[in-house]
Parts: sequence; structure tokens; C-alpha cells
Amino acid sequence: MKCTVCRGEAVIDLRRHNANFCREHFLRFCRDQVAKAIAEHRMFGPDDRVLVAVSGGKDSLALWDLLVELGYRAEGLYIDLGIGSYSEASTATSVAFAESRGLTLHRVDLREEHGYDIPTAAAVTRRVPCSSCGLSKRHLFDEVARTGGFDVVATGHNLDDEAAVLLGNVLHWQTEYLGRQAPVLEERDGFPKKVKPLVRLSERETAAYCVLRGIDYIVEECPMAAGNRHLRYKEALNALEAASPGTKHAFYFEFLDKAADRFRPEARASQEELRPCTSCGAPTTAEVCAFCRLVERVRGAEPVPVEVLGSKGRRRRRRNGAARDGAAAEAGATAAAAGERVRP
Ligand code: AMP
Ligand code: FES
Ligand code: ZN
Ligand code: ZN
Repeated sequence: MKCTVCRGEAVIDLRRHNANFCREHFLRFCRDQVAKAIAEHRMFGPDDRVLVAVSGGKDSLALWDLLVELGYRAEGLYIDLGIGSYSEASTATSVAFAESRGLTLHRVDLREEHGYDIPTAAAVTRRVPCSSCGLSKRHLFDEVARTGGFDVVATGHNLDDEAAVLLGNVLHWQTEYLGRQAPVLEERDGFPKKVKPLVRLSERETAAYCVLRGIDYIVEECPMAAGNRHLRYKEALNALEAASPGTKHAFYFEFLDKAADRFRPEARASQEELRPCTSCGAPTTAEVCAFCRLVERVRGAEPVPVEVLGSKGRRRRRRNGAARDGAAAEAGATAAAAGERVRP
């Protein structure tokens, strides 16, 4: 297999681009794709301070590395969610990456700083873990960006993630969410700008990037997310992609080009007024924001180990999910007002 650019020995074949690349040209391909996404979607400029949300996984570490390689001013933010050995490994990996490159990593430990962790929050609220997890992460990304004076928050969502979310939104005709799905969410009423510079790269490509750059990332997925719908959509898209390379890219980018605008009015219409949370000052649609209410509810609760929340427990809670509690409903409304999507 020869590199399409230099005819040297190729290390990867990219069927959807009808190309093979050697190490050097594959790394250049990744940088070019990220640079193109940043420019095309006007994500940020060379003087902007970028806060990269880092989980220790391949996508966010590849993203941080790529932004630094491209010369951007990028600092990391890691949130310790307290999910047993998974969080311990994520912390160690993120810290080691930052140290090895002399980069600044901001850290927030949920248990130390806010008195709870995700398994405990899930048990107390009797909702799927991803619900309090997503709410906590969004709140803390915004807060650190605001207090640290960052211009933009970048996350490691890749093409597979965005195509899977799109498929889920289409299958259920979530027109409001379709109107919000974009690689850039502009700053609004105290919410920082959010961007996804990896939208042009697939999961396989970010993994290959890490391997070729010698980036040690955690392979393990969050144990609390196993079996969720999002993963099933990814599998379905992978099957289509295998039969017809380029399907995911066309599905997502042609949606952005040809259809996304049609759903914008619906998304805008659903945006409620925002005001500062009386407790922490974050923008919210309620008196007290969903994060502060979650903290109030779960702080100091007896810690629940991850193992207690088996898949059965999750299924049971999911069936009970119809009775959405106030905090969850408000979190959805606030995220909607900020222009964000809340994963079901
Ligand atoms: P996920 O929702 O787990 O697929 O993660 C999507 C993106 O959110 C990742 O690519 C990261 O940019 C960010 N992220 C996930 N977990 C964390 C974490 N514990 N701390 C900081 N950022 C995170
Ligand atoms: Fe949030 Fe798993 S990373 S529940
Ligand atoms: Zn080459
Ligand atoms: Zn608050």
C-alpha cells in the first residue's frame, strides 16, 4: 500500500477519501482537516484563548495536540467525575499528557469541590448517569471559561459523534434539536462560544492520530454509558459506512448545507429568557440553576460505588424517566436557551 502523496509506505487507508497515507502525510491530513473546520465554521482565531475540554480519551487529547501543533493558545480542562477506576485512569492520562508537553491543565474535582460524584448523583436523582454528568460538565465548562477569561470552549466531538446524534434526531424528528445541531454554538447571554474542531475527522482517524503521535489515551469507555442509544446509532452508521464509504460525511455535512437552516426558527422559538442564577450567577431559565439544585440535592449523600449501578438499575430508572424532575427539566430548558442539545 503506497501513500497517495509521496508513494512511500502507507500506514493507513482512508476509503472515504479514496486515499492512503504514510505517517507524515496522515498527520498533515489531520491538521488540514482541523484547520479547514476552524476556518470554514469561523471557530476562533490565532489570538483567541481556547479552553479544550479533555477527558483522557483519544478525541480530546488528539484535539488538544492538534490545536497546539497548529499554533493556537489552547489550555485544557479536566473534570474528575468520580466514576471509580474509570475516572482515576482518565485523570492520570490527562495529567500525564499535559505534563509531558508542558501544557496548562485546569482541573475540577466534583467530589472535592462540590461534594458529590456522578454515581451518587445518579442514585439520588434516580436518573441515567449521563443526565447529571452532562449537566455538571456543561456547567463547569461554562464556569471555567467565564472565570478564566477564555474566548471559546472546544470539545472532542468527532464526525462519528455528530452523525450519530443527527441520526438520533432524525429518527425521532427532534426538529428543535435539529435546528441547534452545528459545529459552532455562538456565545449567548453569559454562555461561552462552543466549537467542535474534529467534525471532519472520524473516530478511527483520531485513534490513528494518537497512535502515530505516541499519545497515550484511555481506551476504556465510560462504564455508565455502556449500551446507550448513541452507541447503537454509531454501530448502524458504521455498517452503512462499510458498505458505502463517505456515507457519514455526506449525511452530516449535507445536512448542515441543505437542511439545518430549515429547522433554526423552531430552535429559536423554543429558547426561553435567561437570567443569572441567584446562587452562582450562571445564566438559567429558573431562579436557581439546575447545577446548583443538583448540588443542593446530592451534596453530602452517602457515596454510591459505580458497581451498584448495574445495567438493571439503569433500565429501571430509564422507565421511571417519564417523571422528569424539576432540575432535569430546567437543565433542558437552559441548555436549549444556550443553544445546546441535551443527550436523552
Ligand atoms: P462524551 O460526551 O463523553 O462523548 O465527551 C464529549 C467531549 O466532552 C469530549 O471529547 C471532551 O471534549 C469532553 N469531555 C468529556 N468528559 C470530560 C471530562 N471528564 N472533563 C472534561 N471534558 C470532558
Ligand atoms: Fe458521563 Fe459516563 S462520562 S456518565
Ligand atoms: Zn506520504
Ligand atoms: Zn447556579
